Amino acid sequence: TNQDYTIPIVFHVVHNGEAVGTGSNISDTRILEQLTRLNEDFAKLNADRTSVPAAFQPVHADMQIQFALAQRDPNGNCFNGINRINRSSKGWTAPPYTQTYCNSTIKPGSFWDPSKYMNFWVVDLGGGLLGFAQFPDNTAGLGGLNTSGGSASTDGVVCLYSSVGNGGLAAAPYNLGRTATHEIGHWLGLRHIWGDASCGTDYVTDTPTQSTSNYGCPSFPKVTCSNGPNGDQFMNYMDYTDDACMFMFSAGQKARMQAVMAAGTPRRTS
Ligand code: ARG
Ligand code: ZN
Ligand code: CA
Repeated sequence: TNQDYTIPIVFHVVHNGEAVGTGSNISDTRILEQLTRLNEDFAKLNADRTSVPAAFQPVHADMQIQFALAQRDPNGNCFNGINRINRSSKGWTAPPYTQTYCNSTIKPGSFWDPSKYMNFWVVDLGGGLLGFAQFPDNTAGLGGLNTSGGSASTDGVVCLYSSVGNGGLAAAPYNLGRTATHEIGHWLGLRHIWGDASCGTDYVTDTPTQSTSNYGCPSFPKVTCSNGPNGDQFMNYMDYTDDACMFMFSAGQKARMQAVMAAGTPRRTS
């Protein structure tokens, strides 16, 4: 049975000593926009939900998962949920950062207990990377997840600073905070809807099998892999379409996320 969950987030904002609101040291406003975006998207309260094609509306679901800024730091002190880190104080090299550097150095050097917080790093990523996430361990017995998602010291999500929030700084077409919606989908056990293979599987039946990732803003219906008449669910957060063109998670995706949450914390066996 489904339950309502609220997940505390700590935003680790990695910067170079810029003033707050400058460069990768994004403002509190951007973070709050991001939080609102997550809570709307996961609750099916996003204003653009009405753009979901009628054929997919019956499977558009409320995940019953919400997010809140952490209110205590690991020492139990009052905290506003935003942990600003000057990279010089940690001896980290200058950005842009690779996924490898994040996993080898930034995350292990700054994570908070992932059985108590979702760690969300805001960093200056290079190479056109918008974000990446660590899967949970497959304690929920779901298809397509590895036995070990990864270690506690790298658990969480990472997003490019300019894709966080939806005002000003964020860069089109990834400027509505949906990179984080997508990455947290992975963090809660979702695969890409094309299964990272030609007509592959995401182990979810109400996301039609599709040939590959979609970009931009396709028009409905887009039929591939004999998935007519409705075609690809390219407006799903787990495709690669523009932020303005993705509006839904499905009921089958909800079942996976709920199974991961029901398997409890920690999300890893080690
Ligand atoms: N490429 C990234 C990933 O696979 C994120 C894609 C996010 N897409 C977006 N429209 N914001 O995890
Ligand atoms: Zn992805
Ligand atoms: Ca599917």
